[in-house]
Amino acid sequence: MERNLKELIDQMTLEEKAGMCSGLDFWHLKGVERLGIPSVMVSDGPHGLRKQDEAADHLGINDSIKAVCFPPAVLSACSFDRELMRTFGDAIGKEAQANDLSVVLGPAVNIKRSPLCGRNFEYYSEDPYLAGETAAAFIEGVQTHHVGTSIKHFAANNQEYNRMSCSSNVDERTLREIYLPAFETAVKKSQPYTVMCSYNKLNGTFASENAWLLTSVLRDEWGFEGYVMSDWGAVNERVAGLKAGLELEMPASGGINDQEIINAVKDGSLDKAVLNQAVERILCIIFQYADHREEQKFTLEADHALAKQIAQESMVLLKNESVLPLANEEKIVFIGEFAAKPRYQGGGSSHINSYKVSSILDAIAGQPNITYVKGFSADKDSYEETLAEEAVNAAQNADKVVIFAGLPDSFESEGYDRTHMRLPDCQNRLIEEIISVQSEVIVVLHNGSPVEMPWLPKVKGLLEAYLGGQAVGEALADILFGKVNPSGKLAETLPCKLSDNPSYLTFGNGEAVEYNEGLFVGYRYYDKKEMPVAFPFGYGLSYTTFVYSNLTVSQSEISDSDTLTVTVDVTNTGSTEGKEIVQLYVRDLTDAVQRPLKELKGFDKVSLKPGETKTASFTLDYRSFAWYHTGIQDWYAKTGDYEILIGASSRDIRLTQKVHLNTEKKLPLNVHMNTTLGELLSDERTIPFGLDFKNRMDAFFGAPTDTPDIDSSSSKEAISDAMNNAMIASMPLRNVLTFGLVSKEDLQKMLDKINSL
Ligand code: BGC
Repeated sequence: MERNLKELIDQMTLEEKAGMCSGLDFWHLKGVERLGIPSVMVSDGPHGLRKQDEAADHLGINDSIKAVCFPPAVLSACSFDRELMRTFGDAIGKEAQANDLSVVLGPAVNIKRSPLCGRNFEYYSEDPYLAGETAAAFIEGVQTHHVGTSIKHFAANNQEYNRMSCSSNVDERTLREIYLPAFETAVKKSQPYTVMCSYNKLNGTFASENAWLLTSVLRDEWGFEGYVMSDWGAVNERVAGLKAGLELEMPASGGINDQEIINAVKDGSLDKAVLNQAVERILCIIFQYADHREEQKFTLEADHALAKQIAQESMVLLKNESVLPLANEEKIVFIGEFAAKPRYQGGGSSHINSYKVSSILDAIAGQPNITYVKGFSADKDSYEETLAEEAVNAAQNADKVVIFAGLPDSFESEGYDRTHMRLPDCQNRLIEEIISVQSEVIVVLHNGSPVEMPWLPKVKGLLEAYLGGQAVGEALADILFGKVNPSGKLAETLPCKLSDNPSYLTFGNGEAVEYNEGLFVGYRYYDKKEMPVAFPFGYGLSYTTFVYSNLTVSQSEISDSDTLTVTVDVTNTGSTEGKEIVQLYVRDLTDAVQRPLKELKGFDKVSLKPGETKTASFTLDYRSFAWYHTGIQDWYAKTGDYEILIGASSRDIRLTQKVHLNTEKKLPLNVHMNTTLGELLSDERTIPFGLDFKNRMDAFFGAPTDTPDIDSSSSKEAISDAMNNAMIASMPLRNVLTFGLVSKEDLQKMLDKINSL
């Protein structure tokens, strides 16, 4: 049904319009009954519905409806599977329609800058490409049902400490290349109905009133069509926010901010066209949902099965020295209370009231070869002698031991950050004790963010289950016993220790956090620094093996407007069916600017029977090679060579291929008195001028010899040819003046000529 929203808005009073710009209560938008505008409900999300009815709050204190808790983002991102994420979103969309929810508050795509961020479990990745692709697929799935999403938290909300007032101070290139692209991809590919602005300030201005962010970038550049809502309580100055592009304040502000809007229109400080436009955007989304109500029949059981599938496709096998899969005839001991009470989701606003939870003990019930001993409590860090002794004794007499370790709820949550990266001491101690009496030890981790693993070299198996959603136990049992072949890969680097992390020195600081590490987040940093890591980004094992061959590119030379197709064959060389995540990274060989050694620009997941070969395929374009040039406020890739790297992880590159890119984009020349000779000589347009100046310099200082420096005279010892060359290269043009090599007028003429090229 086509609606004439402008006509509708014409019939609204100023009070009704201002009212549309904030919530009715915690979860509803206001409606205008007399005009047929319904009051619609929104709800968290995103890995399940947290629909609250009575006594609403946004911190998960009060119960919400019983729903399916799917795996949180920390795990689902490890699937590297767009189709699966679409199916996940589709299920959420159906559940939302059936529960009368117009918008689901997610996905959350903030970049994992530090392992300490309390909400890392809600975020997808340290890599913007993976986060963007994953989010876009999820959004597409939800919105096929005319239920909106609210991609959040826009932007640079990477810590919980002082989250409602702290300023994230990030240079523009870093923002464009690391912290914004996940939002950008999702907006361009899937048009989320809404965007949720974050609590924090961005470079000193609250996100909720940041016109550059909410309007220039989001709407004008990316073409966002929906409405922006505030995070719950993120509004600072309401009128300034509305002008900047914040249409909806959530939750209700007791009428106070509505009144400010009314006053501002009345006193002329707010153009009523701005208000009308905001109302139109909000109404458009309300009716997008209200006019497309679907009769939805979903069953909790079917969605539970999907939650199990997502967990199975995402858990990451990190180490397997011929110890997994477990066999039914083996005498196995399970240790750790997480086996009975799994930690499968995080705390805070995304907390789901799960309609059921399967532990691994539920899943293996009735298997006589498995014994369970508690060993330690899942909810606290306390070494209990009797429990530990019992565990060590049981371990001694087993064929294999599986320790279910992890972080207690109190260790990580929305609202605060971790202060260290360790497991509870009691768990580390018990793991060491068990290793000392048993060699066949497997550790299964339940955590929302990386942990240090001092015992890693001594265990034979390690499965990163992260937070597995309510079907975690069934998923784990199938993987551990080999019914399902693990196929997840890490969406983040697991560093050896916290102090290795690039944000270590600045994370969580008081009123402003300087993102000094710039672009070098996650593997971009560890790789550049050639640092060892516990497990690299993109890493994950399988019960089978894969061989990569036959890398092809559709052309070896490309221009700005070309797309490049890259294909590679993958063969399952083992005896088990399995799935492989093939990753494509790009390396810039042009030396144009400081860049990471490689950046993820494509991934594909292929399912292969034993002996089978399939072709993974990727499409690259100019942007895949480009970096953000703040001077031209645009993406730029210099003419030159680039390398395509095909890998099984960021540190397991199997095949490479060089391609040559020719760009027609020219950087504007801005040559001035302090431009150096070296800079002139590095741009082909200015080389002739550079050479001219260089010759004058050489004549003045004496040209360096090309022969090795065998002159042992003291002047040559003091100033070598290499030093002479370096000095000339770094010489600003003003010096050719002061050395009397050119007149001021002539130099200015030359500069004008160069700058007009
Ligand atoms: C969180 C959001 C959430 C909202 C509503 C806020 O505190 O930051 O992620 O969607 O509450 O519960």
